[in-house]
Amino acid sequence: MVQGVDAAVSTVVVGTAYHAPTARELETLRDVAVVVGDDGVIQSVLPASSADATAAVERASSTVRLGAHERLLPGLIDTHIHAPQWVQLGTGLDIPLDRWLFEYTFPLEARYADEGFARQVWSRMVPTMLRHGTTTAVYYSTIHEGATTALAEACVEHGQRAFVGRVGMDHAQGTPEWYRDRDATSGIDASARSVDAIRALGNQLVEPIITPRFAPACSDDLLRGLGDLARATGTRVQTHCSESDWEHGHAFERFGMSDTRALDSFGLVNRSTVLAHGDHLTDADLDMIGAVGAGVAHCPLSNAYFANAVFPLRRALSRGVHVGLGSDVSGGAHPGLLPQCTHAVTASRYLEDGVDATLPADRRGVPDSRVDIVAAFHVATKGGADLLGINAGVIAPGNVFDAFVVDCDARTSGLEFWEGIDDDERLFEKIVRLAGPEDITSVWVSGRRVVV
Ligand code: GUN
Ligand code: FE
Repeated sequence: MVQGVDAAVSTVVVGTAYHAPTARELETLRDVAVVVGDDGVIQSVLPASSADATAAVERASSTVRLGAHERLLPGLIDTHIHAPQWVQLGTGLDIPLDRWLFEYTFPLEARYADEGFARQVWSRMVPTMLRHGTTTAVYYSTIHEGATTALAEACVEHGQRAFVGRVGMDHAQGTPEWYRDRDATSGIDASARSVDAIRALGNQLVEPIITPRFAPACSDDLLRGLGDLARATGTRVQTHCSESDWEHGHAFERFGMSDTRALDSFGLVNRSTVLAHGDHLTDADLDMIGAVGAGVAHCPLSNAYFANAVFPLRRALSRGVHVGLGSDVSGGAHPGLLPQCTHAVTASRYLEDGVDATLPADRRGVPDSRVDIVAAFHVATKGGADLLGINAGVIAPGNVFDAFVVDCDARTSGLEFWEGIDDDERLFEKIVRLAGPEDITSVWVSGRRVVV
């Protein structure tokens, strides 16, 4: 179907696309013309040989014809990444979360008081993320307003869709005195100014997100104040929730209820609230999150180091909870989201089969826990879009054209196309498991080509 035929056509991409509109469904759009308007929105997806496609190509400012071994995919949506931790990516995963924060992470994040340092990091990080196919990122910044605005500006400059959050943290025990908001009021005021500063950029790609770090790092007054600020300003929220035994237990000890319930009591669990990790969520928590339309950022690699458990992805999906995928840089020691898809599948297999061979096989694992690569890719794309409430994650009319192209036969990463052997299902699986930046030949965000 053709939509908005009068709108100017900016780009037509001609070739074959894969996407996963549901967790069960890989759809191949074979030999199509994806027609993108000046507004960055997909107008139509037409048979490439149709007269309408030919007409669209004639009207377009640019036409990109994919090679026989290239495939178009919807852009990846990283629903949980700590931008300042980019500098320690790949290091420091030898101690538990509470010590990791105080010994490695807070000292690094404190350095972003230096805005010049922050700008240097962002100018390297954002383009690298784009080269990995991450077209949308939900960022934790630091407590610093300058570094946070600079992160939003870097996303605008490089053309990445982003939700950028100044981190709120003021707790006398849960934070060091050299890296915290002075008190709840100054933290709430700083977050309010940060929301305004990001909105003042006036760029539709980048939005603020209110970001209490997690309950152990925040006073009750800060949690409540940030919940009020979210409601007053109509801003999304992100925080960590029930990530580890320690964090999960902290909520029961301090609030006498689960982390989810406590965060909700402060007004922080709303439509599109991103709750990172969630490994220890109960069915009651999941049902509450699902009913509100909030969701979980599943960070499978990071969870192996910090979470003490595997997030029950299949259970969450079957209960109707929105789930996106997160790199959790640098708890997750890889910048790309395709590897996280593989980690999500692998973690689900460990959960289903169990891990301790001294136990009898029928008592070792959690039955019906496995997910496949299509479900994982769905979570990394449409799942994240649904969680955030944005029209993205599939190649379909009315969705923003956030997409990337993989050359399936560049023969550098191990991703290879074997004629007469690889069908679409196999090729898709190979892409998700093997493709890296060396295989990604183009990336678009909102119709703008940001990697060529
Ligand atoms: N909980 C609070 N802060 C963090 C963080 O930076 N990373 C992770 N993985 N968990 C957290
Ligand atoms: Fe995190």
